[in-house]
Order: sequence, then C-alpha cells, then structure tokens
Amino acid sequence: MPETMGMTRPIAILDEHPEWSTRLLAELDRRELPWQKVDHSNHAYDPRDREPQFSVIVNRTSPSSHTRGHPGVLFYAEPLLAHFEALGIPVINPVAAYRFEKSKALQAGLFEQLGVRYPRAIVVNHRGRIPAAAASLRFPIVVKPNVGGSGAGITRFDSPQDLETRLASLDLGPDGTALVQEYVEPRDGAIVRVEVLDGRYLYAIRIVRRTDQFNLCPADICRTPAPDAANALAACPVDTPSLEVARTEPPAEAVAAAIRLTRAASIDVGGVEYLVGKHDGRMYFYDVNATSNFVANAPEVLGFDPFVPFVDFIQSCVGPRNGPPHPPTLRTSRGTRDARREPASPRA
Ligand SMILES: Nc1ncnc2c1ncn2[C@@H]1O[C@H](COP(=O)(O)OP(=O)(O)O)[C@@H](O)[C@H]1O
Ligand SMILES: [Mg+2]
Repeated sequence: MPETMGMTRPIAILDEHPEWSTRLLAELDRRELPWQKVDHSNHAYDPRDREPQFSVIVNRTSPSSHTRGHPGVLFYAEPLLAHFEALGIPVINPVAAYRFEKSKALQAGLFEQLGVRYPRAIVVNHRGRIPAAAASLRFPIVVKPNVGGSGAGITRFDSPQDLETRLASLDLGPDGTALVQEYVEPRDGAIVRVEVLDGRYLYAIRIVRRTDQFNLCPADICRTPAPDAANALAACPVDTPSLEVARTEPPAEAVAAAIRLTRAASIDVGGVEYLVGKHDGRMYFYDVNATSNFVANAPEVLGFDPFVPFVDFIQSCVGPRNGPPHPPTLRTSRGTRDARREPASPRA
C-alpha cells in the first residue's frame, strides 16, 4: 500500500461534544493532517458501505453524552465502532475500550480481577436492592450510575436513614444500573488521575476538591451539566476556584496499576483515578476513563502539551512506519495486546 494511502483519507474524530476536541484538532491542523469531525449525536451509516472512509478513527465517545441532550450516542456508538473496526480501520480506543468506559460495573470487575484495591461496591439494577446492598457496606456510601462521566448522578448517603429518605428520588442513570459503593474519605481531599498513552505513563495530576460535589471532572474541561460550551470552558479544573490541580509523580505501584488497567480495558489513551484513604493511607482505584481532554492549560500545569504525543500516536497508527493501516489494538485470547507495541516485537 502506498505511503500516502493513510493520509489521503482523513483522520476521524468521533466526538459529539462541541468543544472537547478543539485542542486536538488544533494540533492536527498544525501538522497539516487531514481530519474530519464525526458528530455521532446526529448520524447515520449503512452496514453495506464496505469502503473505509477514514485512515484512523479516534474514538472520543463520552459516556456523559446523554447529559448534554445527546441521548442517541450511548448505545449507537457501539455498533458504529464495530462497523468501523469490521472495515479494518484502526480505531484508537476501540469498542472493547468503550465497553469499560461506559460501565462502572465492568470497571469494578476489572479492579477485582486484577487485584487492584477499590472501594467495596455492590452492583444493582433496582432501587429496591439498594438498602440491602448498603447494609453490607460501611456508611457513608455513594450510589453511582453505572454509566458515569463527569460525576453524573453520584449521590452520597451518610446513614441508612438518609438513604431511606432520599431513595425514591435516586436516578440510576440510562441503563437503570448503579454501583452502591463505600465512600472513602480522601486524604487531604485529593484524588490523583494518571494518564496513559499507548501503554505508557504520560503524566499524573493531583486534584484537591474544595467543595463537596462529585461532578468533578479532573482531566476534562467540564463540570456537568454545562449548558453551553462557553460555560464548559470557563469551568475547566484549573480555572475553577474550587479545584486545585497540580502535576504529581505517583508511586510506581500506582503507575503500574494504571498501565495494567488500561491495557486490560483495551484503552489506548485514557486516565485512571485513585485516591488515598484518609483513615488507612491505602490507595483505592475507582475510575477508568477512555476519554481524556487532559488539563485545560496543560503546558502551564504539566510543562508540556500532551496533545503532541497524542497526535504522534495517532500518526503512528496510520503513518508509513506501520505500513498499511491496521487496528492499533490486536486482541489476544488473554484479552488485549497490541503486537506493534509489545517490547518483544522486533518491528523496525
Ligand atoms: N468511593 C468513593 N469514595 C470517595 N470519593 C469518591 C468515590 N467515588 C467517587 N468519588 C469522588 O467522585 C468523583 C467522581 O467519581 P467517578 O467515579 O470518577 O465518576 P465519573 O466517572 O463520573 O468521573 C471522583 O473524582 C471522586 O472525587
Ligand atoms: Mg472520574
């Protein structure tokens, strides 16, 4: 296949959010790479179309799309991504990653299987199950919709009475499924988000929350629901007085866990969050994300622009170094792994 092949077809950015891909697109423009934004909140495809239209798909589907008046994205994204993958188009954060992205229950299963500590949680699909689930946990608890994103719908309860009083008004989210989870008081009110790109540690940020809200979107530009793009941008973590964001170097154990989690979840680029318990000083992982907007003023906070290595990676999925386009993530019987990225791979 000719080298130019990959670049005659545009890079597709699959994203329904009006603003979240702006900085990514700016970096693509800076390199004069052809791109096309695919807004799948209002979209159609024909399964008979077998001709790949794109050189690579950058899947940035967010599980919180339904909170922005885009109810059609959540379930539609799955067959659409499967369609692209079936055509042989490399998909960054493929449908396998998206499954984890949109299910906190699957994420909890992953923590359990990989032996990564997480706040104890019970998965329920009926509000009537919540009191019994909570009774097997230690209060305070949080109830989190299975479909998360930007803290959407997370509610804290301090006692069984508190739960009883507000149970009827709980919203379990778009799939009627939720995690009933122990609330772990974070040491110094801080959480850490570790970003991973292509199986490697990219950076980490420590976020101190000065309010009692859950709609903290540490590495995203948002606090939801943002009624318009201007507000979403204005509410970026670094510019939000209630949040304090700084680069941090997490312990090697945390970085290793983040890499293992993203790998097992087929996530090519994403962020893993954990907190350190105030009472026991232990790390608890609680969120695996496949959509990263990084921090708003990254060069200032991090000392570099993460969109540069991100676009390097995008190019590597279609560029001449890799020959013909192929899926970035090749799945093995053990789950996932990318042959191209295995250290043992002798690829020149
Ligand atoms: N079990 C928990 N104990 C204490 N704080 C939590 C817990 N789970 C979530 N949080 C807080 O709520 C925020 C949002 O939760 P998270 O699971 O990351 O949801 P989302 O996927 O919507 O971002 C976290 O960043 C953290 O500050
Ligand atoms: Mg989170």
